Amino acid sequence: MCGIIGYVGKASAAPILLEGLRRLEYRGYDSSGLAVLNGGNKIEVRKKSGRLANLKGLIKESPVAGGCGISHTRWATHGEPSDVNAHPHTDQSGKLVLVHNGVVENYQKLRNVLAGEGHVFQSQTDSEVLAHLIGKYYDEGDEEDLQRRLVEAVRVSLSQVAGTYGIVAMHADVPGFLVGARLGSPLVVGLGKGENFLASDVGAIVSHTKDAIYLQDRDLVYLTQDDFSVEKVDGDLSEYEVSTVDFTPEQAEKGEYPHYMLKEIFEQPTSIQNAFRGRLIDDQASALLGGLGLTPRELRDIDRIVLCGCGTASHAAMVGEYMIEHLARIPTEVEIASEFRYRNPPLDKNTLAFVISQSGETIDTLAAMREGQRKGHRVLGIVNSVGSTIARESDGGSYLHSGPEIGVAATKSFTSQVTVLFLLALLLGRMKHLSVEYGRNMLKELRELPAKVEKILLQSEHIRQIALKYIDAPGMLFLGRQFNYATALEGALKMKEISYIFASGHASAELKHGVIALVSEEVPSVFIMPRDSVYEKNVSNLEEVKARKGPTIAITTEGSTELEEIADDVIYIPEVTECLSPILAVIPLQLLSYHFSVARGCDVDKPRNLAKSVTVE
Ligand code: M6R
Repeated sequence: MCGIIGYVGKASAAPILLEGLRRLEYRGYDSSGLAVLNGGNKIEVRKKSGRLANLKGLIKESPVAGGCGISHTRWATHGEPSDVNAHPHTDQSGKLVLVHNGVVENYQKLRNVLAGEGHVFQSQTDSEVLAHLIGKYYDEGDEEDLQRRLVEAVRVSLSQVAGTYGIVAMHADVPGFLVGARLGSPLVVGLGKGENFLASDVGAIVSHTKDAIYLQDRDLVYLTQDDFSVEKVDGDLSEYEVSTVDFTPEQAEKGEYPHYMLKEIFEQPTSIQNAFRGRLIDDQASALLGGLGLTPRELRDIDRIVLCGCGTASHAAMVGEYMIEHLARIPTEVEIASEFRYRNPPLDKNTLAFVISQSGETIDTLAAMREGQRKGHRVLGIVNSVGSTIARESDGGSYLHSGPEIGVAATKSFTSQVTVLFLLALLLGRMKHLSVEYGRNMLKELRELPAKVEKILLQSEHIRQIALKYIDAPGMLFLGRQFNYATALEGALKMKEISYIFASGHASAELKHGVIALVSEEVPSVFIMPRDSVYEKNVSNLEEVKARKGPTIAITTEGSTELEEIADDVIYIPEVTECLSPILAVIPLQLLSYHFSVARGCDVDKPRNLAKSVTVE
């Protein structure tokens, strides 16, 4: 939530910052702003509420020049989205500027103290308080080395903050010098030649450099165009390593697609393949997940699994629960990360805990992981973003290798998470009772998935026509059973987050326990009903909706043509083993919500009120 980029170098900062903000806009898009230090040691601030285009317009009217600057795209927490609440924020002297991602929980107390000392605040934000605090300590400092004085001011100020921060600060009297720090909100250093960067995400700087340092919590960094230094906020030494960014700038662009979401839906044949590439062992008819770092004996001893995540990741976890219990017979539970972190569930020594997160930065998932680790448990991660906080702090795990996912609606990360969980289920199952033959069949099924996904994608236009038919629907129901109960939840989440209509997902049998009251001629019900062990049950549920004049859309297996007589619309998916069916069945749901929302004029890549990664509670 919120995106930050800072630049110091020989080039003109503003175009670099604006381009970086464009790439970070998925992190929040309530307002944006930048500050540039011009040659005359004067800080020029431009900021504007609304989308980045508004800021670009402002800068066109009133350009800024200089080679050192900071910028921000905001997801509002404290204070409405407005010009005045947009970042950067300035201190009392007007010489210090700051951009901040996170929440200063004790800002009211700090603000009262500063107001008592004569500070006047312009905005309602918590972040402005931090700018004033740093500015005050800078002004009070007696250090002659002004760079050092600024670093110390940041250090002292942050020691008084309760909450989370990813910040970059710059002072008019200290040209060509940026100070950054992080606690709970990501910050990455980009190392260039004669230029350096600070950003919330490597995606913002990958077109300039592939050398990055993923800062750790409580790291403080300061940089000039030729040099940098990383230490701890409390002054201790910090260990860091320079990593190479694992994707190209082109991968972070939407190319010929109108939206990132559509691009990412269409990338799934490749991203699913990447999730299992190099992880299938034919001679053992099993899977290899080396990153787990568990010995065969440790794997055998696992008697309970906990899977933890938020939103789409929690739906992937639900599919994982069914898969692991089905294939490995190990009791598995799904915990919503925000609940897990506060509810103190019992975990014993043979329980294996996983946190699942595309971004690797979701605050509740991160906190759930740390809570498990605090109790002495090994917590593994299933993560997409290389170098993210969960990836670094977990006790091992598996990457998804999906490439950057930029559309706010999670698509390819879901199918990759389910694929990795399937590998885990297969691995554990083969440690226990699954036969070689069964294992071989599963490997074959996995290998066939990408081609089957391609086949579904060819139906995009057919699905669009169905979406147009229901374009005025005020709400939609998603129903599925067993492995596809979670698919129904995911279909509903996709629909509501990008189209803003009410949508809810249910286990089909729950219809008669209340949900059926919502059925009407205006509200379509989408049944996820591949020809599996519960197909007939789903047919009965669909008939029940039909009998009440509810329109129905069936997602079913090729060949189930009898459904054309009952359902209003049918979307076919290729035949697949039951437990892998969510990977195929979710694709039409992604396309349905995409086409429906585009036709209704919604901004599917940046739905209202949302941001891609939720880094505040
Ligand atoms: O990055 P994460 O996987 O931890 O994100 C979890 C959720 O915030 C995310 O899946 C969210 O629900 C998506 N917007 C759903 O499309």
